[in-house]
Amino acid sequence: MGADWVEIAGIEDIPRRGARVVRSGGRDIAVFRTADDEIFALVNRCPHRGGPLSEGIVSGTSVTCPLHNWVIDLASGAAREPDIGCAPSVTVRVTQGRILLDAAALGGNRPRGAAA
Ligand code: FES
Repeated sequence: MGADWVEIAGIEDIPRRGARVVRSGGRDIAVFRTADDEIFALVNRCPHRGGPLSEGIVSGTSVTCPLHNWVIDLASGAAREPDIGCAPSVTVRVTQGRILLDAAALGGNRPRGAAA
């Protein structure tokens, strides 16, 4: 059985080393684009005190939280040692320049602002 995917944006809609927030099921999902055009998605809450990761600085495949500078791995959501914690990651894929999120991970709700 294949996964259900929800298209949320085109890759060009997110600036390099930036992020875009998609709201779904009461959660904000931060979708990041690295300098190398890799795409990652994490719940937009820092595992420290809930800072908005989408407003952090993307460097390589990590983002630095804007509140207290914890460094979060974009692929796993894990905080870099010595900090401990993890922001849940959302499965994402890119097809022909379009960004798709795993519908199951979104809680079954079509995110606001998702492409029709
Ligand atoms: S809330 Fe992110 S480092 Fe403190």
